[in-house]
Amino acid sequence: MTTQTRIATQPIPGQKPGTSGLRKKTRVFMQPGYLENFVQSIWDGIGGIAGKTLVVGGDGRFFNEAAIQTILKMAAASGAARVIVGQNGFLSTPAASNLIRVRGADGGVILSASHNPGGPDEDFGIKYNMSNGGPAPEGVTDAIFAATETIAHYDIQEGPDADLSVIGERPFGVMTLTVVDPVAEYAALMEKLFDFKAIRDLLKSGYQLRFDAMHAITGPYAVEILERRLGAAPGSVVNAVPSPDFGGGHPDPNPVWAKDLMDAMYAPDGPDFGAASDGDGDRNMIVGKGCYVTPSDSLAVLAANAQLAPGYASGLKGVARSMPTSCAVDRVAEARGMPCYATPTGWKFFGNLLDAGMATLCGEESAGTGSDHVREKDGLWAVLLWLNILAVKKQSVAEVMAEHWAEFGRTYYSRHDYEAIETGVANDLMAALRGSLGGLPGQAAGDLVVESAEDFSYTDPVDGSVASRQGVQIRFEGGARVVLRLSGTGTEGATLRVYLERFDPADFGQDPQGALAPVIKAVEALAGIAARTGRSGPDVIT
Ligand code: G6P
Ligand code: ZN
Repeated sequence: MTTQTRIATQPIPGQKPGTSGLRKKTRVFMQPGYLENFVQSIWDGIGGIAGKTLVVGGDGRFFNEAAIQTILKMAAASGAARVIVGQNGFLSTPAASNLIRVRGADGGVILSASHNPGGPDEDFGIKYNMSNGGPAPEGVTDAIFAATETIAHYDIQEGPDADLSVIGERPFGVMTLTVVDPVAEYAALMEKLFDFKAIRDLLKSGYQLRFDAMHAITGPYAVEILERRLGAAPGSVVNAVPSPDFGGGHPDPNPVWAKDLMDAMYAPDGPDFGAASDGDGDRNMIVGKGCYVTPSDSLAVLAANAQLAPGYASGLKGVARSMPTSCAVDRVAEARGMPCYATPTGWKFFGNLLDAGMATLCGEESAGTGSDHVREKDGLWAVLLWLNILAVKKQSVAEVMAEHWAEFGRTYYSRHDYEAIETGVANDLMAALRGSLGGLPGQAAGDLVVESAEDFSYTDPVDGSVASRQGVQIRFEGGARVVLRLSGTGTEGATLRVYLERFDPADFGQDPQGALAPVIKAVEALAGIAARTGRSGPDVIT
């Protein structure tokens, strides 16, 4: 027997969703009523869930299943018709997006703090996705936030937890609970998009592959797809078993946090192709033998070659990148005569372009690439598209890059992060910079001269919604650019991100930090980062 209970509560300050849902320290979420308040506010913010079908799943981090049990009890108490959950509460973010779409669900709740570490003293997160499979747009997250500020009670079903270990369908209170294999439908989609035979032939030829799942959710997906279906040697997927604290690591696929993979790929007898994915499986890193591919370059290469995969054989309708992502993809779009959109940071801004058929491929400097196959970025998808391209072109990653730069030129690019700066200091830095923008054009900055300076504002071409104050963008004469913004995903203090780029049409062999030295000097002159933060350099360089 189950009973529904209405519990009186009051607003908890600070439940405002950021770039990608609500992210907090896990212990914050574990406080009595904290998760419940936010979940009820989702239901209230989207106009109720009575009679609706939801997909629920997460990346398996600490508190994942406990949170899902609460969400199921609250969905049942609010009259949901059906909830579809990945077995043991597991769903990668792109697989959740796909399930929402293929099952015709009204929306979904995804539990993850993405690439942030997991554990009782680390991070947790929750976000709502719409019926198109994509993150809720700002209008909806604003309504959810507004509901958190007026909440007076939440509804929850009392009684035992649901059994999430057994696949199948059964009643849970008044609703139907459907527990599904988290991998099956996602793997079927990948088989439709890519030339599995070509990739299988490549792998059979002795080609060595290493995929680092970083103890996170893509392990089971990668083992099934890369090893079982494509025939990569057993063990090609490393750190393949998801763990609640990601093996104590930081599941962010970049050269800093995926150092083991980088070392292997730069060793003389290393594999031919390396890749990694993040906590919830939407980010990716691509690295060839001795050849790291920046996310911005990866997007450009995929845009230039996607038609080699069956799912994209008819060409791309357009491409989109976040504003801080390098302009490398713009050059591909221009050469191929397709539209290229620059959006604010955050995958949710791509949703309308994908839904409207204006863009097929999207990507961000933050290691996210994806297409209109789902409405999230998709780590394994990017790996498979790369493998498909390599298999057809019969080239190494380094050869593909060399050919790409020879055709389009090279956009040297790097991101410098200053982490856990005092919030006041970071806000003052940005405010001073914003205040100076009007006078910058024509001014010297280090050895460069400012051409234009703006606080990026985006008007969505589909629904006309406006997102302003999305980051300071300064262009220099001669084609260099810098973008400065504060991270929207951190849980402690502020992180200043400085995105640097410089185009070179002919000299492709430079060290990126060296090639970018004039831009680094110019941004210091304009923003005074060292003086204001007391830091002698960035904490992380990607
Ligand atoms: C998440 C979002 C991405 C976004 C990234 C930026 O991963 O899903 O779309 O690019 O956050 O985070 P930031 O910390 O720079 O706000
Ligand atoms: Zn992620």
